[in-house]
Formats: sequence, structure tokens, C-alpha cells
Amino acid sequence: MSKGTILSGMRSTGKLHLGHLSVLENWVRLQEEYKCYFFIANWHALTTGFEDTSEIKQNIRDMALDWLSAGIDPEKSAIFVQSDVKEHAEMHLLLSMTTPLSWLERVPTYKEQIHQFGQEGKDIATYGFLGYPLLMAADILVYRANAVPVGEDQLPHLEFSREIVRRFNYLFNTDVLIEPQALLAKVKLLPGIDNRKMSKSYANDISLNADSKEIQAKVSQMITDPARIRKTDTGHPDVCTVFTYHSFYNQEEQANIREDCCGGCIGCVACKKNLTKKLDQFIQPIRERREELAAQPKLVDEILEHGAEKARNKAAETMAMVREAMKI
Ligand code: TRP
Ligand code: SF4
Repeated sequence: MSKGTILSGMRSTGKLHLGHLSVLENWVRLQEEYKCYFFIANWHALTTGFEDTSEIKQNIRDMALDWLSAGIDPEKSAIFVQSDVKEHAEMHLLLSMTTPLSWLERVPTYKEQIHQFGQEGKDIATYGFLGYPLLMAADILVYRANAVPVGEDQLPHLEFSREIVRRFNYLFNTDVLIEPQALLAKVKLLPGIDNRKMSKSYANDISLNADSKEIQAKVSQMITDPARIRKTDTGHPDVCTVFTYHSFYNQEEQANIREDCCGGCIGCVACKKNLTKKLDQFIQPIRERREELAAQPKLVDEILEHGAEKARNKAAETMAMVREAMKI
């Protein structure tokens, strides 16, 4: 059944929103075919958030609840927290000895982000931030993962990981480390309620576990066809965020809505009301699963501990091989 090993992670920076769901749905599918390791990158969260660590624990918990309620299954996948598997740190340290500084400085995101954060008044010119891609490589290589489902923004990091593998295997004349392939999911991206990319920092997001009130409030703020003032005006669904959402969450009615909108037969208020209902129906089971799990903190702890144990087993095996290859 297994097509190989998959590793992926997310930085624990807060609760997830509906825009993240396509990533999780992809993971849910992958866990049927691969041996999967999914981890919460709390060390990586420190690279930009080391001054204030007060929310990290809560963020980890929220992320675990979000993953589990979206269908990541602890029976099928190892779900764990990065800092619970110290092998990531050892791998990172050993690789840091063999990685040319210039490779890290060359990673396209590096200078860009230093600059961007600098403008926001944040100093992230730390050793840890420079080493972000190397820690990420360590995360992947320590499981000898064949494939890593990532977004396009992470492709340079994955290419970097492959270079690290080639260099390591060449230097120590071994084939212990495996070059990971990127698995780019072809998913349709759900926009935020203002039709820009969905992001908490734009305040245009809908939580993964939004309650009926939040859903209603967010749908009512959605941007519709600005040219449409009266119900009888001809609408342009293709520029309407509400319509985009119908195409995600109300596919059965999508064609009818298009026709009615173009024909000036439905009003935007009714159209939004319909979407609110469909979205609420869609989120309800996720919300309920999340509530159930949130009421059982011990169970969630156990899931993460069990996941870490599975991860450690595999990571320890790799580290033994790595130490042997390096003769240390
Ligand atoms: N960099 C990823 C992100 O920003 C998180 C991450 C850390 C990761 N280590 C990883 C993803 C290893 C895939 C594989 O979301
Ligand atoms: Fe958008 Fe619906 Fe209004 Fe058409 S009727 S503009 S699809 S909200």
C-alpha cells in the first residue's frame, strides 16, 4: 500500500482558517497511500517570534485540534511536535557543519524577508533565521522522506534540501540520505472575504471552526459585484467573492446561481443567506469534532506523545546511520 514516506509540517503561529483546509485535505488523502509524518514546527515558529513565546503552547494545541478535526488520523499518520523529537536538532547541528554559509545566504526568501521584517521594525537577522532552511532540511531528511507536500513558496527550500543531501552523501561516500521530491498539490485556492489571499493579517479570513455567528458576519461582509445595485441588475458572478464561495461549498446550485445572477432574478442578500447556510453545514462537523477533542486535553496529549514516539523511532534509526557514515 505504501508509496513511500511523506513528511510535512506547519509553523505553529495560530489557529488555522478555511484557506488552510485544502492543504489539510491533501494530507488526509496522502495518509491513505503513504507513511506520513506531520509535525507542528514550534522551533521554526521561534525564528520570527522569539521575543514573545507566551502563545506558543496554546498555538500548538490549536494546531493539533485543527488538524485532527480536519481528518488527520493519528492511527494512520504520526502527528507530533517538532521539539518532542530531538533528532531534528542533532541532524540540524551535524548538517550545519557541512553547509556552506553562502548556500544559506543565497536562498531567495532570506534577504527578502530580512528586508520585509526590517520595515515592520522587527529584527530577524539572527542565526536561527538564516538557518531556517537548514532546520527544515533536517526535519525532512531525518525521516528519509521521499516526498514533501508543500506550497509553491516552499519550493526553494526543498531544492535546498536536495542540495544538502547530495553534498552529504558525496562528502561521506554514502547513500544514507534521500533526496526529497516536492509534491505540489493542484488545489484551487479559496480567497479571503475581500477576494485577496486569505490571511489572518488581512482580517479577511474565516476560522476553520467558525461558529454560525462568525460565518454570518463574514459572509455579510463579502464583496459582491460592485456594479449591481438592484436585484434586477444584470450581475457578474465571476467578479463576485460570494459566487467563488458557492463554487467551493455549493457546487450543486452553482450553475443556477450563475444564471439567476446574470438574469437579475436573485438578490445579493438572498444569495449570501444561501451561502451562509451551506458554509455552516460544511463547517459544522469540523466544529463539532474540534469541540469534542478540545474537551479531552489528555487524549490530545496522548496523540501527540504517541506520534512523537513513532517519529523518534524512525529518526533515531536515521541518526544512527548518519553518525556511522560520519564516523562519529
Ligand atoms: N516552512 C514551513 C512553513 O512555513 C514549515 C516547515 C518546517 C516544513 N519544516 C518543514 C514544511 C519541513 C515541510 C517540511 O509552513
Ligand atoms: Fe454575487 Fe450572488 Fe449577488 Fe450575483 S447574486 S453578485 S453571485 S452575491
